[in-house]
Amino acid sequence: MGETEDFSNSHVLEKPDARQNTQREMSAEIQAISAGYGKSVNAGGAVLTQPRLDYPPYRSSILRHPTKSLHHADPETIELFSPAFGHQDVNPLESDLTIVHAGEPQGERIVVAGKVLDGDGRPVAGQLVEIWQANAAGRYIHKRDQHPAPIDPNFTGVGRCITGADGSYSFTTIKPGAYPWKNHLNAWRPAHIHFSLFGSEFTQRIVTQMYFPGDQLFPLDPIYQSIVDQHARDRLVATYNHELTSPEWALGYNWDIVLTGSKRTWTENEALGVEGDDHE
Ligand SMILES: [Fe+2]
Repeated sequence: MGETEDFSNSHVLEKPDARQNTQREMSAEIQAISAGYGKSVNAGGAVLTQPRLDYPPYRSSILRHPTKSLHHADPETIELFSPAFGHQDVNPLESDLTIVHAGEPQGERIVVAGKVLDGDGRPVAGQLVEIWQANAAGRYIHKRDQHPAPIDPNFTGVGRCITGADGSYSFTTIKPGAYPWKNHLNAWRPAHIHFSLFGSEFTQRIVTQMYFPGDQLFPLDPIYQSIVDQHARDRLVATYNHELTSPEWALGYNWDIVLTGSKRTWTENEALGVEGDDHE
């Protein structure tokens, strides 16, 4: 294509915003914060396993940053207005995201399985686990997602299940694609699946993200990097498990979720807002 290339039909392509930072500038910010954290730990400072409320490279975290002390909500009032999820409402078929529509979704079929554990490694049974994710092309079914990638008519990207007596859960789904977002110029999120867990009451809900091993976008992503401790970040990355892989059917990934203690899985802070609401 030469200089006469016509973009008139490319209505979905937006002009880059000159005020936006480049990935190079963003990576420099990420590395400076990481180096500062490393120095602090080496000097005997605290190991930070949870995301920083104020992480400037994640631009919108500044807008969500609390300016006042956190206020503890009254669970009695909240429960009056919250949806109730009963065990009997969850159909076992809802853990298979590939059978929701008449046809097979496009992409790489995967099984994601693991256990929900407490800080002492004991299984947490009867937990409602919900997931949501982009399709294989990196597109969510969501009106705010204008990424010019195809919607898959056979993939909604939402599923749920209840953990078994041994704390186990298992989902069959499609490996999600990476997708762009508008944090900075050429910003791409690593492939991930959003997870939500409910405790014994609605106010105990926790939300987090699971990533796939070896993703080249890890060093570039301000959301992943907002967890400044490498060990805490590693706990969000699933492990490929060939034992879980079924011949000629699906690749298997293991990912355990630890609710408390020093090996606790990182979760999104309510004060930051639920990141997944923006499908970032
Ligand atoms: Fe997302």
